Formats: sequence, structure tokens, C-alpha cells
Amino acid sequence: MSLLIKNGRIITSGEDYVADLFIEGETISAIGKNLNVNADRTIDATGLMVFPGGIDPHVHLDMPFMGTYSSDNYETGTRAALFGGTTMVIDFILQTQGKSLRHALEQWQGRSNGNACGDYSFHMAVTDFNPDTKKEIQEIIEKEGITSFKTFMAYKGALMINDSQMVGLMQEVKRHGGMVTVHATNGDMIDHLVAKHRSEGKMAPLYHYLSQPEVTESEASGRFAAMAGYTGVRGYIVHMTCEGALNAIRDASKKNHNVIAETCIQYLMLDASLYENNFEGAKWVMSPPLRQKKDQAALWSGIQQGTVQVVATDHCPFKWEQKLMGKDDFSKIPNGHPAIEHRMELLFSEGVAKGRIDLNRFVEVNSTNAAKIFGMFPKKGSIGIGSDADIVLFNPNEKHTLSASTHHMNVDYSAYEGVEVTGKVKTVVLRGQVVVDNDKDLTTRGYGQFIKRQV
Ligand code: URP
Ligand code: ZN
Ligand code: ZN
Repeated sequence: MSLLIKNGRIITSGEDYVADLFIEGETISAIGKNLNVNADRTIDATGLMVFPGGIDPHVHLDMPFMGTYSSDNYETGTRAALFGGTTMVIDFILQTQGKSLRHALEQWQGRSNGNACGDYSFHMAVTDFNPDTKKEIQEIIEKEGITSFKTFMAYKGALMINDSQMVGLMQEVKRHGGMVTVHATNGDMIDHLVAKHRSEGKMAPLYHYLSQPEVTESEASGRFAAMAGYTGVRGYIVHMTCEGALNAIRDASKKNHNVIAETCIQYLMLDASLYENNFEGAKWVMSPPLRQKKDQAALWSGIQQGTVQVVATDHCPFKWEQKLMGKDDFSKIPNGHPAIEHRMELLFSEGVAKGRIDLNRFVEVNSTNAAKIFGMFPKKGSIGIGSDADIVLFNPNEKHTLSASTHHMNVDYSAYEGVEVTGKVKTVVLRGQVVVDNDKDLTTRGYGQFIKRQV
């Protein structure tokens, strides 16, 4: 099966030109002006931008968390991602404390195998680093192609590890060339503030926000960067939200520590005033919480400067009835919000259309950087000969409005209801197959592949 995409404006992390793309099977086989080839199908992309497929390296699909499961599974979550131009996601395996990494891997494989519409990989979250876990690291990297290890400095009793485990893990991961990523907030401080607010009868979603002030994140980010610097491991801070945390890694870079950051689309455009609306604020209860406008400005500047290298979503959706688990106590609201479908369009609209970033930077933080950082480039994140034909045709001028009534995520509200977006995903190609075409669903459950990664 071959596909010719004619006359599109091809935009990569370093280029911007008009040409034809010829795809044979799953990969790009030729790029040029007026290609003279026989194709099974031709798409005219005149007037459209052509981007490499988006990569969202921070999602939680079908994840057991806070007494329930995130409401998108591999099928619904990756399908929704494809509708938004994200052709690949990286999900998180969570080790159960007291059990092995292999046990956790098998659980996640059981839920994902044969179910995804889009391509995916895993990060391995190490929640219990001990001599047995240590022995598993090399095989997880070399045999399973899972090269990034997630750690939590919060969620004590469930996911959090202490600094001694952190340093031990970093040393072992470094030995095998992998990377350590982190949810960097000070868990003990947060637990203290949660307990204080509850004891004072302060139970509304606003107190979720007030229990995680900026200092909890800047302190942990600085501590993580210091440990990464000491061990020499490559460090990556997930879902960075605020100026203080950004400054912590700016400081670390002055000491030559190798730590970079990801932010998420919500932290670039939503702010903590959403928590003032009584229980409605539960839609945005996530950790870390939304911050202030000054933090949005800092994060945009971090992107412009190249310190914040990735824009993800931390997609972790819960239906309204699940959010109601915390109606009388903010600490029981499942943490997370739905965004997997909207990341690329929102980033284009807020970033490119509003003049904050240029098109090449957009492609970098939407796709190429994640492919490079997580060991998949140039198979993914690139429009080049031999790369996977993961392609998005995009109309930069079409305006539309986001709503739960039209989205494809398995959640009964939108965290972006009524937001008007400039720019629309028109056609999505995943490894040579047209999977979305002008809002038409051509996805297939099981077509999505697990992508092994390299160190
Ligand atoms: O609120 C969030 N972020 N939920 C998912 C788990 C995590 O911390 O990333
Ligand atoms: Zn987190
Ligand atoms: Zn997360």
C-alpha cells in the first residue's frame, strides 16, 4: 500500500518547505517537488501544514489510582490521541510496592496488548527500589526497550520513594545508560498541609491547591537535580508547573547537571482561579495543581529558552462520578484531568497562533524532542526518508470549539469546554495508514504497536 501526499507545507524541527511525500508501507520513502510516482492513494495537501505525528510522553491509561481506574483505556485513549494528531504516547507502569518490576510490566502488558489504536511505549515507575529491583533494571532497558524510570517524591505509602532509594536507582540506571524521570514535589510537606486543612474542616477542591504551594515543587525539583548531578544520571522532571521549579533547574544547569523539564498544556493556559468555583474545581484537581499567570509566563519562557523541552498532558481522566468520590474531602478526589486529544491543537493555538513560539519550536516540543530524549529518533518525531510515516495534515486557520459533546475521550465533561482553538487536525497517518480523515474515525483497535526504545 502506498500513499502520496502532494503539495503540503512540511514543517520539522529545523525545516519549512513545500514538497510531496511518498509513503510505501509503513515508512516515508521519498520527499521532493512534483514526485513522479504511482501511488495507491493521493491526498492533496495544498494549503495545509504537514507535521510529524505528535508524541505525548506522559499519559495514564487504564491506571489503578486512588481507589479507581483512569477512565480511558488503551483503545479509547489512543484513539482520542489520534483525533488530536498524537500518534504515539508513553504510559507509566507502576510497580506495586513489595512486588517486582516484571510483575508490573506483565500487568500493563495484559491491559495494553492488542488494544491500542495508536503506538505506545512505557516508562517504568519504580516505587520500591531494593536489591531485587536493582537486579531487574538492566533487563528492563536492554530486553524490554524501556529506558526511562519514573520516580515519585510524593504520594507517600503508595508511590513515593525516599532519597536513599532515589540515589541508588539513579546510580543503577546511569550504569546502563537510562534516564530517571520524576514527579518532583515534597510529599511530606504536602501530607502535612493536607492533614492540617482537613483537621480545620477545609474540604473543598481549593484546599488541594493550597496543600501544594509552589515551594513544595521548587524544593523537590532542586533536590532531584542535585541528586541527578551527583550521580551523573540524565534527569527529566515531568509536569513542571511553576517558576520556582524552573529556576531550580536553571540553577542546576549552571552546575552542569543534566536535567531537563516537561510541562503540560494545562499549566501553560489554565490557572488556579478555577479552584475557586466550589466542587466544579474538581475537574482540575491534579498534582501538581494549576498555578498562577506568572508561572505560565515563566513556562513559556522556559520553552523559548529550551529548558522546557516537551509539552505533554499527564492525561489521567476520571468521569464525574469518580470525581464525586471526593465531594466531601478534596484529598479523595482522584487526581488528573483529560487532555490527550487536545494537546497539539491547544499548543498550536496558544503557542504559534498567539506568537509565543515559532513553527519549528512547536514541532520540537510537540514531537521531535520527546523522540530524541526517549530514544526513538528518527523512527519517530521526524519527517525524513526511512522514518515511520506518522504524519499530521493541519489547517492552521480553521477555528473550532472544544466540547465534551464532540471529543473522543471516555469522560463525560471537558476541562476545556467552550475554548475556541485556532488550527485543526485534518488527516492523521500512522505508519502509512490513514487513521483519521476529516473527523472520520478510521482507527483500528490493535493496530497500535509497542515501540521499543534505545538508550
Ligand atoms: O494528577 C495527576 N497528575 N495524576 C496522575 C498521576 C501523576 O502524578 O502524574
Ligand atoms: Zn505526577
Ligand atoms: Zn502523571
